Amino acid sequence: MVEKNEELIVTIDACGSEGEGIGRIDGYALFVKDAVVGDTVRVKIMKAKKNYAFARLMEVITPSPDRIEPPCPLARKCGGCQIQHINYEKQLEYKHNKVKSCLERIGGFTVVDEGVETEVDSVDNVIVMEPALGMDDPFYYRNKAQFPVGRNKEGKVVTGFYAARSHNIIETETCYIQAKENDEILRIVREFITEYDIPTYNEETHSGLVRHVLTRVGYKTKEIMVCLIINGKKLPHHEELVRRLREVPNMTSITLNINTKKTNVILGEKCVTLWGQSYITDYIKDVKFQISPLSFYQVNPEQTERLYSQALEYAALTGDEVVWDLYCGIGTISLFLAKSAKEVYGVEIVPQAIEDAKKNAEINGIHNATFYVGAAEDVVEDLYKDDAKRADVVMVDPPRKGCAESLLDTIVAMQPKRVVYVSCDPATLARDLKILDEKGYQVKKARAVDMFPNSVHVETVCYLERK
Ligand SMILES: C[S@@+](CC[C@H](N)C(=O)[O-])C[C@H]1O[C@@H](n2cnc3c(N)ncnc32)[C@H](O)[C@@H]1O
Repeated sequence: MVEKNEELIVTIDACGSEGEGIGRIDGYALFVKDAVVGDTVRVKIMKAKKNYAFARLMEVITPSPDRIEPPCPLARKCGGCQIQHINYEKQLEYKHNKVKSCLERIGGFTVVDEGVETEVDSVDNVIVMEPALGMDDPFYYRNKAQFPVGRNKEGKVVTGFYAARSHNIIETETCYIQAKENDEILRIVREFITEYDIPTYNEETHSGLVRHVLTRVGYKTKEIMVCLIINGKKLPHHEELVRRLREVPNMTSITLNINTKKTNVILGEKCVTLWGQSYITDYIKDVKFQISPLSFYQVNPEQTERLYSQALEYAALTGDEVVWDLYCGIGTISLFLAKSAKEVYGVEIVPQAIEDAKKNAEINGIHNATFYVGAAEDVVEDLYKDDAKRADVVMVDPPRKGCAESLLDTIVAMQPKRVVYVSCDPATLARDLKILDEKGYQVKKARAVDMFPNSVHVETVCYLERK
């Protein structure tokens, strides 16, 4: 047992689920944020429990060969990137193993790496994992950012990101994973707020006006959207802000989002257009999309093409299939698949996203995609029971909490030949795959796709076949 404030030297031999290094002293585990597997470090114990302790990294005595100098000077302080100090190849290995470990521990599967010969007892619950799909250049990839706005102790207007596990704003002028255009937009917003003395929002007292700035940049079109999220209905002197923002090349949409609730949720339900369109457009491969501030749209456009191509490969469409795309957002996967399918049905809970999906089908001249608003677990059950709708292939792409179990039951009852599961949380993915496996679907393949380089998040795409 160790004591609080004690200093120790330890060698890191594992990486935890939040990207932290884990070292052991006589079997007692120390969790050390910012330490890398292979590092020997001096740490200070911050919190000691019976079987493990959290320790602060004080000094890297011998650096791991996988440790690199992070390009961003704020990487250690800021909560946005957790593993920028690990070389990219190792980041991909870490994500591959994170998915593998969830599938084994939570799902109870045997997972073998593609191309690696392994002896297995039975092929029934064996998943073949293909190598993680990474980026060529894992920086400046995000097309969407939500920056909190506040004032520092001296009263200066600041924008940035929250520090890890807190709501303290780390002041940033450049972010190494966001679109570069954001730097100028944020400078204009900060100057405007300062000059016109607009109150910034204070979370504790639920007072002040400007809460966040949301930006979106079209990867292929370069169109820019700026949305100010405010705790009120009007932004004083907004004409002046609009005049300044319009000078940014490719500015396309300037909007306000009204969020007067005392909540951690960033966006409110209502948007008001101040200038230009209420949306921007962008392409995924050759499919064009309209994206409004409230709609979900994948944040890494380069990797989205890789993810969807992998999902399409797993769907193995011949042109005759009825495909369901559940949790479809603005219909990105649905429309991507529509060209290779007979019919596509998309289901999504956010009404604005379905409006976008319908418009997106129209602007692409796609006539074999139909969209429904509502919770997937309700809509699919109703359509299956009342209208006897069927499916050859089901694609699901739920939020982190995964699929409702009742939806998995309906999918099984519909007896599709194949299911493709896209997931942003390997733990809930493994839970749902276990259920599908028990109910008659064999998980054949899985692949991690790095949608969020330098962070611990990982996307996975899996292919299941009816047994
Ligand atoms: C991870 S996103 C995937 C969106 C889309 N497939 C894409 O690639 O852009 C998950 C989507 O599920 C939606 N959603 C959340 N809960 C839902 C539910 N119970 N039923 C249907 N859609 C839901 C969210 O609004 C979000 O658009």
